[in-house]
Amino acid sequence: MIAVHGLSGGFGAEVLDADLAALESEAAIEALLAAFFAHQVMVVPKQSLTPGGFARFARLFGRPQPHILHHLRHPEHPEILPLSNVFEDGKPIGVYDGAAYWHTDMSYEEEPGRVTLVYSIQAPAQGGETCFADMCRAYDTLPETTRRRIDDLTVLHHYGNRADLEESSRTSASPLSEDQKKQVTKVYHPLVRRHPVTGRKALYAVAGSSFGIVGLPDDEAIALLDDLKAHATQEDFVYRHRYQVGDVVAWDNFSTLHAATLIPPASGPRDTRLLHRISVKGEPVLRPRTLLAN
Ligand code: SIN
Repeated sequence: MIAVHGLSGGFGAEVLDADLAALESEAAIEALLAAFFAHQVMVVPKQSLTPGGFARFARLFGRPQPHILHHLRHPEHPEILPLSNVFEDGKPIGVYDGAAYWHTDMSYEEEPGRVTLVYSIQAPAQGGETCFADMCRAYDTLPETTRRRIDDLTVLHHYGNRADLEESSRTSASPLSEDQKKQVTKVYHPLVRRHPVTGRKALYAVAGSSFGIVGLPDDEAIALLDDLKAHATQEDFVYRHRYQVGDVVAWDNFSTLHAATLIPPASGPRDTRLLHRISVKGEPVLRPRTLLAN
């Protein structure tokens, strides 16, 4: 049976004694999904997965969604997007910069991304961490008056990082081609989401793709979103993950923000970073009975 250890104040869990390539029984799958949804971020170290095995595991969490950056997708498994600081022929072999700011995956789409999973194939000796912020705790610790003010607000989202729109900057969203730009539209999501599995309320995507609030003047909306982002990403609410080769890390996009950290291009094997990443939409294969919201 798997062993689950909370990482920091209940946010994030490390799952030990799990072999994700051989996860078959409904009881094991339920225990793993329960640990994931209860802790919002899950780290499973020492895994050995083929790209197909990683994709199979990801499907337990929902329906894999190939990323809009189609030129970088894995050739045989389009749902896999490589993230890397390795360059070949002057070009990065995956997303190099492009996620080094607080954001929520696929919050710029009508049907938002639910869970993202990465599998670490090469890990740099230093740097390359991903930071995660707990949006349930962020919501729970707001003053009652603020919670009442924001509970029913609707937020305008589109692709990009509202804090940095300069395409050549290392902390803006990955630039899109003209064709890809035509595929992204404005979408609307609630500012506060009740989690479909756990029933907990969380701030949703207050950084990155959020650009306005319905019914508020732009300056007031941005000031409110910036205040919520500052509150939500305070050090105390953040878990910073340093990758080891073989780590599988999954995060719940409905209850976390995350940010990559900037690292230099790899100059040798000691500092290469290669993660395979899959984002999923929709429902997990089962809802853990211990966490049922409805
Ligand atoms: C992501 O934002 O999906 C990836 C994060 C990372 O590269 O650390």
